[in-house]
Amino acid sequence: MPSTTKATAKSYSNIAFVKYWGNRDDLLRIPANGSISMNLSETATVTTVEFTPDLAEDSLEIDGRPATEPARQRAGQFLDVIREMTGRPESARVVSHNNFPMGTGIASSASAFSALTLAACTAASIELSEKQLSALARRGSGSACRSIPGGFVEWFPGLTDASSYAIQIAPPDYWPLRDIVVIVSSRHKNVGSAEGHILAWTSPFYTTRLNHLPERLHRMRAALLLRDLRALGEECELEALELHTIAMTSATPVIYWDPATLEVMQAVQRWREEEGLGGYFTLDAGANVHILCAAADAERLAYRLRPLPGVHDLIINSPAPGTHLLEEHLF
Ligand code: PMV
Repeated sequence: MPSTTKATAKSYSNIAFVKYWGNRDDLLRIPANGSISMNLSETATVTTVEFTPDLAEDSLEIDGRPATEPARQRAGQFLDVIREMTGRPESARVVSHNNFPMGTGIASSASAFSALTLAACTAASIELSEKQLSALARRGSGSACRSIPGGFVEWFPGLTDASSYAIQIAPPDYWPLRDIVVIVSSRHKNVGSAEGHILAWTSPFYTTRLNHLPERLHRMRAALLLRDLRALGEECELEALELHTIAMTSATPVIYWDPATLEVMQAVQRWREEEGLGGYFTLDAGANVHILCAAADAERLAYRLRPLPGVHDLIINSPAPGTHLLEEHLF
């Protein structure tokens, strides 16, 4: 590696149709089950990494401000994996920008760690295949491995570091699906996903979930490949409710919902049943709701969603490409 090398990557976050919840190996983030997701066009992170002998320790700036110490350390631990691969000790300067407003409660770890993976590997002159990049991004944040390939993606759980990675099932233009993120809360989650993955195993329903997930993955993959919104949407709603059932019945029960979360989920079901408006909800481990719909219905749904009590903002996403390099750097 030359004395200083710099690279910049852009990546998009993703919404899981079948969720990752629980690890077989917490340290390596080997998940208990496979998952399927779509990359989101309007929630992107751009990150520049420079390895330089001028720094005594890694520095991390997010959206124009120095990151918190826990965030800096988490990025540093991830960069240690890359330093081990190169055998070079240089610290890194990392500058990152999200295109979605901070404080919206939107998880940024998927776009953050996938962008960091590609930018840091390129800056360190390490050439990896897409599968290897995905497996490496997983070490930073599990769901980040699904933001490396583009469009619609499946993460094979695997049993080892090298065999746990995500691949593309279909490119972004395969299906003009929309994902409307309904922001109902900007409060910080009281239980983060790292803790949630550990708690999952304590729910009495968790093994039941793991047992039937292979069939759900099969149905979800088929619905996606057939572009069958109804089949995909109904399966997504069941899956989201199941994730939250596991959280609510873990040894430390976690309720991620706000009143507005339920309000939005019920409104979407009501509009579908009474007016044939084809939106289907899904949720991450948080209060905000994602509504999946056909491109033609997105504006009508947005119009109905905006005035609901507790709705702060909407972000309408299309399927997005995978992580890629940019020529312009952030510093
Ligand atoms: O990647 P993590 O550790 O932040 O976990 C993500 C967990 C969920 O968003 C709830 C589900 C998923 O598959 O993205």
